[in-house]
Amino acid sequence: MFNPERFIKEQTEKLAAEVDGRTIIGVSGGVDSTVAAILMSRAIGEHLFAVYVNNGFMRKNEDAEVAKTFDATGVRYRIVDASEEFFDSLKGVIDPEEKRKIIGNKFIEIFEREAIGWGAEYLVQGTIAPDWIESGGQLRDTIKSHHNVGGLPSSMKLKLVEPLRDLYKDEVRKVARSLGISVSERQPFPGPALAIRILGEVTPARVEVVREACAIAEEEIEKAAESGKMDVPWQYFAVLLPLKSVGVQGDVRAYGNTVAVRAVESVDGMTAKYMRIPHDVLETISVRITNEIKSVSRIVYDITHKPPATIEWE
Ligand code: XMP
Repeated sequence: MFNPERFIKEQTEKLAAEVDGRTIIGVSGGVDSTVAAILMSRAIGEHLFAVYVNNGFMRKNEDAEVAKTFDATGVRYRIVDASEEFFDSLKGVIDPEEKRKIIGNKFIEIFEREAIGWGAEYLVQGTIAPDWIESGGQLRDTIKSHHNVGGLPSSMKLKLVEPLRDLYKDEVRKVARSLGISVSERQPFPGPALAIRILGEVTPARVEVVREACAIAEEEIEKAAESGKMDVPWQYFAVLLPLKSVGVQGDVRAYGNTVAVRAVESVDGMTAKYMRIPHDVLETISVRITNEIKSVSRIVYDITHKPPATIEWE
């Protein structure tokens, strides 16, 4: 049985013994990287510096959320706005694996730059077990290259430290609860962020659509869960498809975007079941997205389990 208190004690001692210099950690505001930051901070204290990179395709209000989380931890941090760089590097790219690798590389490029300023030798990442299992390797097929594994360039100079490498999400949450971290129950969010919820090219205009659609889906599902209509799913979001369809707005023809809504139940993200959301909740989400985002004229609900699908669409 996994014992979070023992893990915290042993891992902190191990990190303190292994890491003997200045260190930066890439944080996203999610559970994994926040837990990794607190463990590192307990192990090496003032030697740690956290960097949150805004890639231009994070969730709505994420900068403020991250600032709130990190202000409460006492870990020193910096927010880097790299959106222009990320958009430039993704111009014309539609292949999911190519997107993931470009994003992973870009993150490292920025961390290396930040590391010079801080004089860091080590880079910490909040990688967890499914990230490297799904990214493949000699014995396994590559399902998808997680940004923090398959996207790492071979030329990386920083020494990599991954304190949560052997844990699954449910175990990370147990550690987070034991550390009293405010984001312990936050739903997972992928490192490549909304870029992998946009099928096709990632442009600022398309990011706006999916960001708003995700915010609406999250808000309505959370509201329904609070009122007792349903449980909070393990993960829930919207995806912008590379597909237009004919619609009608007022009495005018529309040829608009299609958005898919996805909500799944899972324990560790390795397998998942689509969630049977009440139809009236789905209807509210559909009406709100089509009313509030003018370029969207059709909503579909994803009823596929993992396997055969994965949770994210890319
Ligand atoms: P899939 O889509 O593979 O996702 O069923 C399983 C879980 O992992 C998240 N995910 C990622 N997390 N970097 C991450 O940190 C990534 O590159 C990445 N890709 C997927 C996904 O959101 C789900 O919770």
